[in-house]
Order: sequence, then C-alpha cells, then structure tokens
Amino acid sequence: MTRKKIAAGNWKMFKTPDETKSFFVEFAPLFSGSQAPASAIACPEVVFFIPAYDFAAAVDAVKAYAEKPKIGAQNIFHEREGAFTGELSPIGVKSAGATYVLIGHSERRSLFFESDEFAAKKVRAAVECGLTPMLCVGETLKEREAGSMLDVVSRQIIAGLSQVNPDARFVIAYEPVWAIGTGKVATNEQAEEAHAAIRRVLEGIFSEAKAEATSILYGGSVKPDNAGALAQQPNIDGFLVGGASLKARDFASIVEKLNH
Ligand code: 13P
Repeated sequence: MTRKKIAAGNWKMFKTPDETKSFFVEFAPLFSGSQAPASAIACPEVVFFIPAYDFAAAVDAVKAYAEKPKIGAQNIFHEREGAFTGELSPIGVKSAGATYVLIGHSERRSLFFESDEFAAKKVRAAVECGLTPMLCVGETLKEREAGSMLDVVSRQIIAGLSQVNPDARFVIAYEPVWAIGTGKVATNEQAEEAHAAIRRVLEGIFSEAKAEATSILYGGSVKPDNAGALAQQPNIDGFLVGGASLKARDFASIVEKLNH
C-alpha cells in the first residue's frame, strides 16, 4: 500500500499578504527543483496552512507554478453560515481557495479551549463541504510522563472522527505538545511508536484498509536536519511543519526529504 506523502506547513499567525507573495516567489524555483520529474508519483503533496487574509495573495502567487501547492485553512466553524461573528465558514474558505483545513491543533485546544466534541463537528463540516480535514492529536509532557500518550491520542482520534464515515478522506497529524516550537523533536522511535499506535486505532474504528490508506504526519520541531531520518520510519507519511515552513529554503529542503 502506497500512502500519499504530504509536506504541510503551518504558518500560524505569521506573514502578511505581501510577505506571502514574497515567500511564494522564493519558493517556486526551490519547489520545482524538488519535484523529480521521473518519479512524479513519489512526490509529496505540498500544503500550506496560512492565515485566511493571505489566501488571495497565495492563490495569485501560485498561478505561475506548474505544480501548485495546496492551500489550507487553520480553522473553520462547523456551520456553513450564520450569525457567528469572527468565525470562518467552511464553504467560504473553500471558495477562497482552500482544499484542506487543520482541526484540533494543540494551540486551538489549549489557548481557545476547543474540545474533542467541537473538533468532531468541525471534521464533519469540513468533509461535508469538500475540504480535507487534518486532525491534529498529541499528548502533553505531563501526559507522556504519566504513560498516557496512547490513551490521549486514542481519545482524540476516536472522538474527533466520530461523525465521519469510512469513505471520507482525512489526514492525521501527530504533534506531541512538548515538541511544538520547543526545538525538542520526538526521537525516531517515539514518533514511529505513536504513529503505529494511531494506525491501530484507525483500524479499530474503520478497517485495516482504511488505516493503511490514511496518511499520518509528524509535527513538532521538524527541521531540514531531522526530517530525513523521521521520513524513513515506516508509519511516518509526512510532516506538519511550523517554524521551518516560514523559510522557503528550509521548507523546500524538508519537502525534498519526502521524495526518497
Ligand atoms: P514547530 O515546527 O514550530 O515546532 O510547530 C509545529 C506545529 O505546531 C505545526 O502545526
């Protein structure tokens, strides 16, 4: 079974529309350089989760690309429209150019108190509106030290996917909270162990075939110098990259690591 490899950047609340434009100008030659023409199938899908106010600049900037990176939203609300001041509609972000959406990122869970139930509603809304949800899961340091990593990620996955049917396309991102923005990357063994366990959870919910077909990305201090070894792990199908995705050269180098 060959799963889709995905290199995703999460820009969080960085870059203005002008900075977005400059980024994509710089990234274009690096990105096309990383796409090996003879093995197009092995190339990872590249997705940028960017602030919604940068969509127009990004969509315009990637028009010049032969192979276009995908655009993703960092959040949506679970209703299509209504009196929800400040929220982002799933059909709105789709029509503005997004094909993916991040759901349940640890910053949304911890800073904005988003629950598993809220994530589940958003996953369902994303699927219904034709967006691919990337459900983020991961344990805190305290939870890891208490030996409950698997309990935590199982709960987040079972709850987060409770309202989708097996035909829906979704992606999982395993992001241990203690590795996000800290420079402390999970070891290859820790990441592989968690990814294999997540695949077993997916098998339990859906089927072996669905579990085998689902891309599971690792996130948390991924950099050009640690991405290569992580990418070799059998259950790691790509990366969700924060800080290093803001630099065109670093991110292109991480994309390149998934070509092998
Ligand atoms: P860093 O790569 O900066 O650790 O961020 C990871 C992350 O939160 C991606 O969603």
